[in-house]
Amino acid sequence: MTEILQENGLLHLRNGSISYIMAVMPGGALAHLYFGPRLSAIHPDGVLRAAGSGDTGNFRLQECGLDRLPQEYPVQGLGDQREGALTAEYPGKGWAADLRFSGAEALDAKPGLDGLPATFGSDGKTLRITLADALTGLRAELLYTVFDDSPAVIRSVRIVNGGDAPMLLTDAQSLCLDLPDSRWDLITLSGAWARERAVYRRPLVPGHQGVSTLCGASSLQQSPFLALARKETTEDAGEALGAALIYSGNFAARASVYQNDSTRLSLGVNPRDFIWRLAPGEAFQTPEAVLVYSEEGLGGMSRAFHRLWESHLLPPRWVNAHRPVLLNSWEAAYFDFDEEKLVSIAECAAKAGVELFVMDDGWFGRRDDDSTSLGDWGADRKKLPGGLRRLGDRIRALGLQFGIWMEPEMVSPQSDLYRAHPDWAIHVPGREPITARHQLTLDMSRPDVQEFVFRAVSDTLTESGAAYLKWDMNRNFSNVGSAYLPPDRQRELPHRYILGLYAVMDRLVRAFPEVLIEGCASGGGRFDPGMLYYVPQFWCSDDTDALQRCRIQWGTSLFLPPSAMGSHVSAVPNHQTGRTAPLESRFAVALGGCFGYELDPRKLTEEEQIALRRQIAYARDTEKTRARGGLYRLLSPYEGNDTAWITVSPDQTEAVFTLVRALGRVNTPPPLVRLRGLDGEKRYRVLETNEVYGGDELMRSGLLCPLRPGDAQSVLYTLKAEEE
Ligand code: GLA
Repeated sequence: MTEILQENGLLHLRNGSISYIMAVMPGGALAHLYFGPRLSAIHPDGVLRAAGSGDTGNFRLQECGLDRLPQEYPVQGLGDQREGALTAEYPGKGWAADLRFSGAEALDAKPGLDGLPATFGSDGKTLRITLADALTGLRAELLYTVFDDSPAVIRSVRIVNGGDAPMLLTDAQSLCLDLPDSRWDLITLSGAWARERAVYRRPLVPGHQGVSTLCGASSLQQSPFLALARKETTEDAGEALGAALIYSGNFAARASVYQNDSTRLSLGVNPRDFIWRLAPGEAFQTPEAVLVYSEEGLGGMSRAFHRLWESHLLPPRWVNAHRPVLLNSWEAAYFDFDEEKLVSIAECAAKAGVELFVMDDGWFGRRDDDSTSLGDWGADRKKLPGGLRRLGDRIRALGLQFGIWMEPEMVSPQSDLYRAHPDWAIHVPGREPITARHQLTLDMSRPDVQEFVFRAVSDTLTESGAAYLKWDMNRNFSNVGSAYLPPDRQRELPHRYILGLYAVMDRLVRAFPEVLIEGCASGGGRFDPGMLYYVPQFWCSDDTDALQRCRIQWGTSLFLPPSAMGSHVSAVPNHQTGRTAPLESRFAVALGGCFGYELDPRKLTEEEQIALRRQIAYARDTEKTRARGGLYRLLSPYEGNDTAWITVSPDQTEAVFTLVRALGRVNTPPPLVRLRGLDGEKRYRVLETNEVYGGDELMRSGLLCPLRPGDAQSVLYTLKAEEE
């Protein structure tokens, strides 16, 4: 059970596993004392003196006092020489707010956040702390939630202009965390198109380090996440601290090391390209950030994130629901299809046991390639003479659900929409539009664009009767300007864009609660916790190569759950890498996420089609364990030739284990892989070999994994606990 203890100027939030402790200093500064395993109590003196202050008195009146104080929501310019979490300009009053504690209240229920996705749940406790600046009237309302079941603290800030003059907010981070030392490695996830979220780990050094984006999305290149791990921290053991932002736009995630080796972590909307006008009485709500603490290494941290998202963020309706095994037409047909071809692919897919057929890009306007028609969301009657309804009906008549692709935030210059509303695209008047993939981005800050997008999507869903929507987004911002926003609010566009997107998504999921939405952004270019509030799954990467996917899925799983990672078996040679991996290995890797296909089943041999039937039956049988089980990463593709992971059901009676070997090796004995997460007291039968082992043996000695010769070979084992 979570509790909030308030005594002697200390504010202590804790549940069964963690504590988060703050102190109100005599001068009113809000100090940060501790985040880590649950404590019964703390001596503030110890923490504060070790921070180098030498005195726990009135920090404000001492030279350099604030500079040494670990703080909750610091502001630079009043003695703290480090970079703060908040900056605003107050006409005639400088740009620093002297934030002092003005009150704290425990809330009965966790409030939602205005216009933003946020965690929810009836358990746990929320504390609201108000800091106020007497000179400017600015107030910062800090919200802290701890749920009963999670080693996490959820934070956000509401900045209120309580003064009588307009303010210009130029930085409002969602969280800041001052840590007493810098003996940490920083872990971030970075990449590019088709190789998203590779893991980078390096020691912290004095100065700033971190990741950020300015492209209008959380991006292919970076993820709104960072972790700190002790040098000795492994997948299974040691301290790890993860931070993630529930946001899909420009963000900054930073770890800065200052004097005395203290570390300041911050996470929030990227202050570059951000200036927000706050009239008197107005408020700005930051996105929510989550801090997770683990003593069970990076694996423990990841599982804590996964469970938190699943219990408190993902659309509840989909968390435990069966996700249909889908076949997507993209790599099967690209733009080259018509109704008959799609129906014949779907027929073949249905025979293999596929449950949902998705028509990808190419069905609307005159979209024979990627150069036209985004925005003209009427079916291309040359390809689909009977329109969406007839195609949908024919697919459903095969016993399949029908799904459809859209890229609603975009417009092609070659479209009726653009000709009618050139001002609806993001642009700077007088500058030539910069297209990417021949397209422009609609200005989602505009209410008329939001209305158009909502109508386009809802009409498409209604007309087609689709049970599934793939919501794509395939380009980044450039020429960032809005014909709708006034000149002094142009820098609000990146954040207002995301608010507009969220508003439309919110309306859609309410209007079509039964439609399963999968997010996509040139693959995993906006795969973040913000999107997961609306869509329970996201196309993890356009790279469907089994070996590349091992790396991408490993990195992604650091903070995002396998149940949300769209992952498909595709054809060989692989369309991105040209590699030919065996069908079993493509299957084993795709099972590591939300499972489906991305190929033309008509082109498979009879033997392969039979294999598909077996695969789909297996995927369905093991879905619960794979989606709801705990993920244990065993062998890292970043460290060697083998990748291995296991997912263990919550009651430890079932597990699915996968090993993939990248390069075949001659004259090499089979690996003995130590498993994790099993019950050491139980005995497990490996269904594929029919051998029985003790859980202790499997975890301490290991499971032998004989591999066939050749590259990209794999083993997939299903473990079932024997009845006692
Ligand atoms: C993006 C997506 C692909 C596919 C294409 C269609 O690249 O990531 O899966 O939908 O768009 O144009």
